[in-house]
Amino acid sequence: MSLLHVKSFEDYKETYKKSVERPEEFWSGIAETFKWRKKWDKVLSWDFKDLNVKWFEGAKLNITENCLDRHIVERGDKPAIIWEPNEPGEAHRVLSYKQLLFKVEQFGNVLKNNGVVKGDRVCIYLPMVPELVIAVLACARIGAVHSVVFGGFSAQSIADRINDAKAKLVITADGGFRGKKVIELKDIVDDALGQCKSVEKVIVLTRARIPVSMLKGRDVWWEDEIIKVETQGNPHCPPEEMDAEDMLFILYTSGSTGTPKGVVHTCGGYMVFTGYTFTNTFQYQLGDVYFCTADIGWITGHSYIVYGPLSQGATSLLFEGIPTYPDAGRFWDITDKHKVNILYTAPTAIRSLMGFGDEYVEGKDLNSIKTLGSVGEPINEEAWEWFHEKIGKGKAPIVDTYWQTETGGFLISPIAGITPEIPSFAMFPQPGIQLVLVDENGKEIEGNDVSGNLCIKFPWPGMLRTTYGDHERCKKTYFSTYEGMYFTGDGALRDEHGYYRITGRVDDVLNVSGHRIGTAEVEDAINKHSDVVESAVVGYPHAVKGQGIYAFVVGNHRHTDEPDLMRGDINKTVSRIIGAIAKPDKIQFVSGLPKTRSGKIMRRILRKIAEGDTSNLGDTTTLLDPEVVEEIKRGAEEMRSK
Ligand code: WTA
Repeated sequence: MSLLHVKSFEDYKETYKKSVERPEEFWSGIAETFKWRKKWDKVLSWDFKDLNVKWFEGAKLNITENCLDRHIVERGDKPAIIWEPNEPGEAHRVLSYKQLLFKVEQFGNVLKNNGVVKGDRVCIYLPMVPELVIAVLACARIGAVHSVVFGGFSAQSIADRINDAKAKLVITADGGFRGKKVIELKDIVDDALGQCKSVEKVIVLTRARIPVSMLKGRDVWWEDEIIKVETQGNPHCPPEEMDAEDMLFILYTSGSTGTPKGVVHTCGGYMVFTGYTFTNTFQYQLGDVYFCTADIGWITGHSYIVYGPLSQGATSLLFEGIPTYPDAGRFWDITDKHKVNILYTAPTAIRSLMGFGDEYVEGKDLNSIKTLGSVGEPINEEAWEWFHEKIGKGKAPIVDTYWQTETGGFLISPIAGITPEIPSFAMFPQPGIQLVLVDENGKEIEGNDVSGNLCIKFPWPGMLRTTYGDHERCKKTYFSTYEGMYFTGDGALRDEHGYYRITGRVDDVLNVSGHRIGTAEVEDAINKHSDVVESAVVGYPHAVKGQGIYAFVVGNHRHTDEPDLMRGDINKTVSRIIGAIAKPDKIQFVSGLPKTRSGKIMRRILRKIAEGDTSNLGDTTTLLDPEVVEEIKRGAEEMRSK
């Protein structure tokens, strides 16, 4: 069976129907196209109440055999990874499947030499260089569980993630390049490790060659460790045989409460789901050059730079830098240089590049582009049209892919060039995804031209299995709001044709430049500032970032004398605790927050004020102190008029 089996809209409808009527048969057909050491005894067993989901039970595999070894005979010399460095003047690198396998085996042996065994957790904090892909796959090769931490997170965030997973080893680099900046990665790791007892070893890659501290017995250089492996003389590292339900990785993500959760994905189902959705959605044809601009620190990079494309024998382009360096034409230069056929990016990048003006696109060829993709947040019509006209030359289909860290891969998306598309609609469920819209009480809303909270009522192979170390929390967060269903946290509408449009989060999770941030997390960080009494954080519409962060802060005396300085202090505090990505865009000092008599903050009111819409704040009579709302409104207007 080819994974390019959907050839028309009719095919899609038929495939979808079959996939929900006979899911086991559908998914085992897809799974047959992968390489298994031993086939499964049972395709699926599940129970959403106790949250126990198993796909391909009894099967044995190693995902790297699927991503590497199985391509060697036919595609060994074909490019697996094309790497484009931050500086356009630096030479790019191409790793063929053979070369990538060789390096993964080598580094797998490095990990073993440093005491890592199957089941150990390894934290990876690297820039976007080929060694990041190598490190991820080397973990999977030996059955270690990787936890990649995005380079924009602070030392404190790294420490929290390392401690939660009890990681034994950290892989980092001296520094990484992002535009004109050098990020001192090893320094940040060193700051984190003061709090981390579980870490025995740190492997440090040379990238920026900036001075770093190296501790005897703990810190070793990547390059030295490779030489050791070379002198040991055995270049091979046999793939560890894994159960389909063994853990593949942990990836931390923000929710509406508390600290980030370690979303757990397992080997078999995740592989099948990412491989299938990659090929099917993009209609990837062997030989196409595919460029996903995401960072491997997020799920998009895991699923659609590394595992999905490589399991399909694709050529995946990896870019170290940022879209605006050296200028706002960089994505288009890369597209022309490497003849990119499929470009997958985020609305925030599109809006930002649009804002620099068309002169950065004009004069670029872009004729290689066949398909475009968007991910991470709702794409507004204006950005969609620009992407379509200027980049897709009016002819390349755009797949607006809706999904989440927890879902492993695409839930809703058009199929490129095959199913219809409408700007700002994610359109159709992927085969196998059983969507439901529910009302506040969890009652299913049937029919078309309706909206509600988006849930999924049947398992799919790429879904999360648990949150690391806290199964109860996983059950509670995702499977208890509406009984018997997975709740996405997003609202959606189904129009009169049955097409889906995502309307955004209905919980307290923000989506800032496509980065997921919990308001509670930001509040906790702000509240750690010594001069802050309390705070409330909400999102507001932001022209480029999609959402901006608006913080209402009750301070003690200091902010009245030097408000801007205090804002700077708060930003610095948040950067230290979470990372610069969580810094509020606006901070308004207030004397109190609107609370109900039971002490609950009325966020609805704050959200309206942050949006600049104070005409109808709804019922404020239940407030403890309605006066405070007037003061906050005045303050917000003052800030806006400045
Ligand atoms: C949002 C990113 C609208 C949504 C893959 C979801 C989207 C959250 C889309 C997950 C889209 C993602 N249209 N909204 N195409 N894609 N989202 O876990 O709110 O970083 O719940 O995964 O991003 O963010 P996460």
